Amino acid sequence: MCSLAHRFMLVTILMVLVSRSQAANAPSKLIQDICKETAESHGTYDGCVSALELDPTADSADIGKLAKISLQLGISNTTDTQNYIKKLIKDATPESQKTLSSCLSSYLAATASFKSALSELSEDPLSANYDSKVAGDDVQECEDEQERDKAQIPGLATRNNYGKLYSAIAFVVTNHLPQS
Ligand SMILES: *[C@@H]1O[C@H](CO)[C@@H](O)[C@H](O)[C@H]1NC(C)=O
Repeated sequence: MCSLAHRFMLVTILMVLVSRSQAANAPSKLIQDICKETAESHGTYDGCVSALELDPTADSADIGKLAKISLQLGISNTTDTQNYIKKLIKDATPESQKTLSSCLSSYLAATASFKSALSELSEDPLSANYDSKVAGDDVQECEDEQERDKAQIPGLATRNNYGKLYSAIAFVVTNHLPQS
C-alpha cells in the first residue's frame, strides 16, 4: 500500500510546503533595505518589518506603494491613539486632564502631518519627506508634555513609540522616492 514512491511523493510535497511558508514569511528585499536603514534611527529591524507587514500587500509593494502604505498606517495608528486619549480624558483626574488634552493636540497634528505627506507623495516627494519627519516631532511633543507634567499616562509611551516608528519608516521610504 504505502510504497516507496508514495512516501517519496509525500516527503517532496511536505518540503515544498515548508519552503513556501518560509518564503511567505520573508520580507521583501525592499522592506529589508528600508528596515535596516530605519533601525539606525528608530527602534528595531523586526519592529519595522512587522509594522509594515500589518498591511498584507506590503511585501509585493514597490517604493511608491510602500510610501503610501507607511503613511496610511501612520494615519490609522495615530488616529487610533487619538481615540484612546479621548476615552482616557473622560475619566481623567484634573491633574492629568492638561497632559491628555495637550497630547490630543499633538496627535491631531501628527495625523494631519501624515495626511499632508500622503497628499504630497506624487507631486512633491521632498515635502512628503519633510512632513513624514514632522509627524514624529508632533508625537514627541506629547512625550515632552508628559515629562514636563511628570505624568504617567498608561499605554501612551508605547503608542508614542508606534507613532515615531511610522514617522521614521515613512521618512526613510520617502527619502528613496524618485525626485520629480
Ligand atoms: C499601531 O502600530 C503598532 C506597531 O506596528 C501595532 O502593533 C499596533 O497594533 C498598531 N495599532 C493600530 C490600532 O493599528
